[in-house]
Amino acid sequence: MEKIIDENKQGESLVLEQKKDNTKKLFIESYGCAMNFSDSEIVASILSDQGYNTTQHLEDADLVLVNTCSIRDKAEQTIRKRLEKYNAVKKINPGMKVGVLGCMAERLKSKFLEEEKIVDLVVGPDAYKDLPNLLSDVDEGRDAINVILSKEETYGDISPVRLNSNGITAFVSITRGCDNMCTFCVVPFTRGRERSRDPQSIIEEVNDLWNKGYKEVTLLGQNVDSYLWYGGGLKKDFDKATDIQKATAVSFSNLLELCAKAQPKMRIRFSTSNPQDMTLDVVETMAKYDNICNYIHLPVQSGSNRILKEMNRQHTVEEYKALIDNIRRIIPDCGISQDMITGFPTETEADHQDTLSLMDYVKYDFGYMFAYSERPGTLAERKMEDDVPHEIKKRRLAEIVALQQKHSQYRTEQFLGKTVEVLIEKPSKKSDAHWSGRNPQSTVVVFPKENYKVGDFVNVKVTDCTSATLIGEAVGYSKNN
Ligand code: SAH
Ligand code: F3S
Repeated sequence: MEKIIDENKQGESLVLEQKKDNTKKLFIESYGCAMNFSDSEIVASILSDQGYNTTQHLEDADLVLVNTCSIRDKAEQTIRKRLEKYNAVKKINPGMKVGVLGCMAERLKSKFLEEEKIVDLVVGPDAYKDLPNLLSDVDEGRDAINVILSKEETYGDISPVRLNSNGITAFVSITRGCDNMCTFCVVPFTRGRERSRDPQSIIEEVNDLWNKGYKEVTLLGQNVDSYLWYGGGLKKDFDKATDIQKATAVSFSNLLELCAKAQPKMRIRFSTSNPQDMTLDVVETMAKYDNICNYIHLPVQSGSNRILKEMNRQHTVEEYKALIDNIRRIIPDCGISQDMITGFPTETEADHQDTLSLMDYVKYDFGYMFAYSERPGTLAERKMEDDVPHEIKKRRLAEIVALQQKHSQYRTEQFLGKTVEVLIEKPSKKSDAHWSGRNPQSTVVVFPKENYKVGDFVNVKVTDCTSATLIGEAVGYSKNN
């Protein structure tokens, strides 16, 4: 017996050490876009190598990390409130460390440490691999901050720890940063220049997810259509690539095809598309592969050419409409959603009417609508006056929200009597006797559970609807099950 222990001494002590370290608890929460949620899974993976296990209970945490959003002022206010809550918990648990990650960390940098006494570390979106070092700095009582933006970092070598997962749908990040410089948007400042991730590592992640039972992936980027892999490096440096690199470059439509072929039964989604960068070969690839969902999130922001120009969106309303027409020609049943901003500087009533009329033209399935919020450092903030009064922004917002609701109702009604394929994701929020999932167009569908289970692909006959949800009955497994 003793001999065995002796022989295994090294192994034994390693196990013990790991056990000791594994008692550290990480509470991590995310605000903002899907990319933040995806990044938190990368952070959890980096920290699990440091012996941190995630906890759902703030009070138990040794380390609290909040992945923050700067897109609108309100998003930042929400996070400031959250910090107050952490502060209250820290009074009971003084050993608890608090770190701020993501866009607000990048935007405010060391100001955070000055403004919010409770914050121990500040880490920007490209610096998560430095977290182990930063945590040692905290332990040694030093200011811990890294907000350096990278030209290469894509975290392609990190296998994310899936957080709050239903085990069925997952995000896979494919690009980081954005080069578009829309004048209202803080993202290019907080997330840096655009770079793409090695397609090989993307496919490996998709395969791995399939092997673990996942049935749907969403390829993520601020601007997925400009995905371009030529061996690494910034998108803007592609011109300097060698002839071989150029000849073997992988575009977004190539990548979609690679993913669709790698796992023919995995549902593939992507977000977000930018009208100026979306090419028809992407739409054609979608049409070619059954497992790429017929849904495009295609933010436009405004229906006025003058405002689009002021926003530095590189397309006109006419070009956008032509793109919509082409999408509908190639994929007649494609779901399309929008992002809109009301009250951008100088927006007149006539510009607003143009937005309403573009919405009437497209009749989006759904959308995400916002009142303009001036962001420090953006071109709009530096060059334009935030001159549309708050009440007018809000009134215009209410008008586009109401119109969108009408269009959403119109779109959901088109499904009445039809049979749609649903991937079951979770129990319905409103009724425990019903499942909830989405059809390929990304509209939520609920139906009685019967003997089906989460992860099944089911054909559902739609019998009723609201503007946001299709209601129906399962008529059997779909051919993809
Ligand atoms: N391409 C990104 C866009 C991120 S921002 C993506 O992956 O979705 C998401 C949306 O927030 C934008 O499309 C825009 O409608 C809105 N938005 C961005 N900056 C804003 C601002 N300053 N005020 C109000 N809304 C804003
Ligand atoms: Fe922002 Fe425009 Fe990029 S909205 S994320 S700068 S495409």
